[in-house]
Amino acid sequence: MARKKITVIGAGNVGATLTQRLAEAELGDVVVLDIPQTEGMPAGKGLDILEAAPVYGYDSKVKGTTDYADTANSDIVVITAGIPRKPGMSRDDLLSTNAGIVKTVTENVAKVSPNAILIVVSNPLDAMVYVALKTSGFPKHRVIGMAGVLDSSRMAAFIAEVTQTSVEDINTMVLGGHGDTMVPVTRYCTVAGVSINEILKKEQVDAIVKRTAEGGAEIVKLLKTGSAFYAPSASVVAMVESILKDKKRILPCAAYLQGEYGINDLYVGVPVKLGERGIEQVIQLNLTVEERIALQKSAEAVKELVEVMRRMKVVN
Ligand code: APR
Repeated sequence: MARKKITVIGAGNVGATLTQRLAEAELGDVVVLDIPQTEGMPAGKGLDILEAAPVYGYDSKVKGTTDYADTANSDIVVITAGIPRKPGMSRDDLLSTNAGIVKTVTENVAKVSPNAILIVVSNPLDAMVYVALKTSGFPKHRVIGMAGVLDSSRMAAFIAEVTQTSVEDINTMVLGGHGDTMVPVTRYCTVAGVSINEILKKEQVDAIVKRTAEGGAEIVKLLKTGSAFYAPSASVVAMVESILKDKKRILPCAAYLQGEYGINDLYVGVPVKLGERGIEQVIQLNLTVEERIALQKSAEAVKELVEVMRRMKVVN
């Protein structure tokens, strides 16, 4: 059986780390692409990762390029192209620059890999994945945003720290947009099946929720020169694995909603079933009134970004 082909667009911090993780996990052959101005950079990084294969024992082929022809007929294309957040910048400040980048990238990708599943990582995430859907013309189940897996992983890391338990026994569920309005649903955040609301004091739960919502900004403030990339790339690997192995995991992802959760024509983070066809089902959780209101508020924030992009004529 031929190995699957995965393309990573953008060979920066997220893209290069993701390429390494995908190769090490042997999920497929990986092509990593960056803009021509970067000259040998993607080729150099690709070759470096390929040369680690004998030590690590993976047979995935890795190639860096600036030519979309090398990415043709990919099964999955992950878009990490764009500029990262600098200190003091909100994800929304990135909107205009990254919208243009994601639009151009998607046009190129759609031409050479018309059957691919697209996973968008560039921020502001919920807006960028909307651009990818509208530009590609792909069906909604093949255009997915990575955010909820990352936010949920951050939350799980904080819960593990506070409860002094293994991350393996922790399940978390963060819904909504990938921004300050995200909605960690604490009822569904569990340690060995028991909700953190039962295990921790309210102040502890509130502190974890706040730290989760500000998780990206916390890293930006520490790094000073860019944004997170280890946990984001790991989160993409979980999504790629569920798709390519048809595992049908239920993961929170940005999905295009058409009425689910009372939200229409927007990408918002919700639990989805990820399998070989991409998003195979949007899981409709029973939410309390407060959770529903918080999700609506988060969707409103995403809608504002989409409206800005409409005015900028990035999308119709
Ligand atoms: N086509 C391909 N690659 C591009 C394009 C383009 N049109 N425009 C920019 N890039 C490349 C840059 O040359 C750079 O190598 O995208 C890469 C981005 O890498 P970094 O600057 O290191 O940014 P990174 O930390 O990887 O974040 C990328 O992911 O998490 C999000 O907010 C983050 O939007 C940002 C994206």
